[in-house]
Amino acid sequence: MENKKYVALVTGATGGLGTHICKRLADDGYIVCANYRSQEKAEAWQQQMQQDGYTFHLYHADVSDYDDVGRMITAITQDHGPVDVLVNNAGITRDGAFKKMSKENWDAVIGTNLTSVFNCCSHVINPMLNQTYGRIINISSVNGQRAQFGQVNYAAAKAGMHGITKTLAIETASKGITVNTISPGYVATDMVMAVAPEVRNKIIEGIPVGRMGGTEEIAHLVSFLASPKSGFITGANYAINGGQHVY
Ligand code: CAA
Repeated sequence: MENKKYVALVTGATGGLGTHICKRLADDGYIVCANYRSQEKAEAWQQQMQQDGYTFHLYHADVSDYDDVGRMITAITQDHGPVDVLVNNAGITRDGAFKKMSKENWDAVIGTNLTSVFNCCSHVINPMLNQTYGRIINISSVNGQRAQFGQVNYAAAKAGMHGITKTLAIETASKGITVNTISPGYVATDMVMAVAPEVRNKIIEGIPVGRMGGTEEIAHLVSFLASPKSGFITGANYAINGGQHVY
């Protein structure tokens, strides 16, 4: 990277993927702003990160709340300058057969996984346009591309990200901003490990590489797309799923 210290914001930073994305971006020389929702989890996480040799700047916000995100972006901008790299990583699952899916579980997943992308992009896009530089990376899922029993809400949110990525990419391409999606397959995070072992093992049997992905493998791809050298890649989706879904 050049001399400029780029500012990166990772949402849902304290989760399995978020942690490795933060670490990788710090290794790459970014000022890393780590968004979290649960204060208790964030405090334990920060301690662990310090033990691992990392100091991240923690920012609380419920990413499903437009005004809360606005407050967070204002604070980051005051502390470090405008956000150069936004990684929309925050996500939750509320799995269940559709016939039993409550409106509450639909709203929770759409709010945290999809509306959050609008909220965060909305608050960073004008500063990025003004500085004619930005990298937006949306963390979707293989299950936004293919069907997974029990994930109507999650699949809808993750598929919706592609619409945001593609359209925002062409609206901002001439201003030095790239917008891309990464669609990870099954990675050994708490979210995936929460799936019943018999269901999970069956899913893993369907991954041609023969294993789940590593969080650092996803972080490696984030690092690649975040780089100033990746300026000709925009509106793209990168599948990273061990061959589970090829198209
Ligand atoms: N395929 C077909 N039918 C199924 C099924 C499946 N996989 N699972 C359940 N069913 C059937 C049941 O037999 C049952 O049938 P009847 O109504 O005729 O009795 C019906 O569907 C309802 O079953 P359940 O009561 O067990 O359904 P549920 O509401 O409890 O949900 C589930 C089941 C928990 C969603 C389970 O299917 C499951 O765990 N699926 C995996 C979900 C998954 O992969 N989540 C990924 C989380 S990680 C992640 O999302 C990260 C990422 O990006 C990859």
